[in-house]
Amino acid sequence: MCGIVGYVGKRKALPVLVDGLKRLEYRGYDSAGISLVQKSEIKTWRAVGRVSELEKKLDLAEAGNVGIAHTRWATHGAPSEKNAHPHLDCGKNISLVHNGIIENYTELKKILIKKGHKFSSDTDTEVVAHLIEEIAKKKSFLMAFREAVKILEGTYGLAVITNKEPEKLYCARKGSPLILGVGRDEFIVASDASAIINHTKKIVYMEDGEIAEITPDSFNIFNGKNNHKEDKKIFEINLSDEQVKKQGFPHFMLKEIHQQPEAVRNALLGRVEKFTKDGGTSVLGGLRDVENRLKKIRRMVIVACGTSYYAGLTGKYLLEEFADLPTEVESASEFRYRKNTIDRHTAVLAISQSGETADTLEAVREAKLKGALTLGIVNTVGSTIARETDAGIYCHAGPEIGVASTKAFSSQLSVLVLLALMLGRERKLSFSESKAIAKEMEKIPEKIEQILENKNAIKKLAKKYARCTDWLYLGRKYSFPIALEGALKIKEISYVHAEGYAAGEMKHGPIALIDEKFPSFFVAPSDSVYEKTMSGMQEVKARKGKIVAIATVGNKKIKELADDVLHIPESLEALSPFLSATVAHLFAYYVGTERGYDVDRPRNLAKSVTVE
Ligand code: G6P
Repeated sequence: MCGIVGYVGKRKALPVLVDGLKRLEYRGYDSAGISLVQKSEIKTWRAVGRVSELEKKLDLAEAGNVGIAHTRWATHGAPSEKNAHPHLDCGKNISLVHNGIIENYTELKKILIKKGHKFSSDTDTEVVAHLIEEIAKKKSFLMAFREAVKILEGTYGLAVITNKEPEKLYCARKGSPLILGVGRDEFIVASDASAIINHTKKIVYMEDGEIAEITPDSFNIFNGKNNHKEDKKIFEINLSDEQVKKQGFPHFMLKEIHQQPEAVRNALLGRVEKFTKDGGTSVLGGLRDVENRLKKIRRMVIVACGTSYYAGLTGKYLLEEFADLPTEVESASEFRYRKNTIDRHTAVLAISQSGETADTLEAVREAKLKGALTLGIVNTVGSTIARETDAGIYCHAGPEIGVASTKAFSSQLSVLVLLALMLGRERKLSFSESKAIAKEMEKIPEKIEQILENKNAIKKLAKKYARCTDWLYLGRKYSFPIALEGALKIKEISYVHAEGYAAGEMKHGPIALIDEKFPSFFVAPSDSVYEKTMSGMQEVKARKGKIVAIATVGNKKIKELADDVLHIPESLEALSPFLSATVAHLFAYYVGTERGYDVDRPRNLAKSVTVE
């Protein structure tokens, strides 16, 4: 998704901006651009494709200490040079970059055209530059900027420069994240921290409605209600540059799959150690403030998107099995726009790696409005969802750079297990059951490591099946969400058609697809539904379909049906998703790389989807 970097300081802006753009590449984008203020002029460069294409057009020694830069992920208007940001006004005095969507841009454009403005792109963003220009005819730039953003409907993170005030950078935020890095004699604005951390760890989070006016020596942030200057807290973030690099792995995705054991350990850290002493419950400090409300809830509704949604589906099984808590899982994008019956006895739990996914954020806002208790399972510290939910649990998986989510999934599952145990102990779960799960949970990282040590077997198999263009991913009960996640992953990074299905549903439709060229990927650990899963496998075999199966180590019999088997260590049924997901992630990774794709930056996808 789009990324923003802005610089104002004593250094040359261009190298900082280019470096920032490269650090934002992981978010997914199709074009990039930069504007610099040079004396009384604004100079702009744009390019379609990678930041490296833009870099070819630049001379890094170019003068200018104030500038803005952007990676664009097309929403309004095709990916092209004219649609790439920054966008300028008619007089070429204002240049801006924008994340989000301006919903009333058509009306605004019509009005501005009537007033004589000439547009040079198909974007919604360009109206903002012309709108400020129009208002600034009679007002100071700050006043014009303030007034313009009040007219905008939709969402925006905006960074704006003007040659009329060549030492300043202006920003505004509504629904799209913007943070301000506070350096020595310089400030860096960005849509996420990875573009800032190599310059400073001191961060100011902008809130919705706020406007910032930044010079090399100071910054002022005004609220949107009465334009009063806000006293903003400067946070110290704990994110190292090394954490966002590949550390010897060919791709971030592979690095992050290898970080799954660590991600699980981090999620558990300090949260299960009291099991033996305190009656076998998990300790989730982030929920302390809502403890009493949580005890009264009668229903949980999980809202999330993509991989986080599949973690949520697993969460449903966990919460219903261990906490006796009726749980529904809903795509966040559906939740907001239909009539739902949540009330103050419902907790709405948002799961999000980035904490910025627009659909999930809006679902949280809707739930709040209806009086529900809102909770978050979020990885990115200080993100909007983390801040807007009533309470939450951080995943502590560290930054996830690969567009396809892997380690965040494992850490989300870990937190969901802890949550189920905590709520379970408050309800009917016995001490011994809870303790057994917690003990096994602590062994999960080691078991994932065993899978990683054996990754060559998965690689070999991926090579064998790399040319297949269709897959059916099947699983039952706890393995059903993993079938969905496995299918999503292979679609995302290998551009292979894959459908995830509940294994029992296969006979109601997808079975029609099966023939010798249409393979199935069964998630079939030795669990309570194993025999049922085998019936599905028989049905595929009877139609000459090829079968790859994930099975528990020691299960040799499965070879009678499956053509190829990938083994996972033994574990509790409820915790098997950690292990089968690692295998499914590695399989998708190797198929993607075997097919020659850039798995870290799959086409058309974005890491953080901040538009609805
Ligand atoms: C995008 C990403 C997915 C991710 C989903 C939800 O579609 O490409 O990998 O699962 O957003 O993101 P979130 O940050 O809310 O977990």
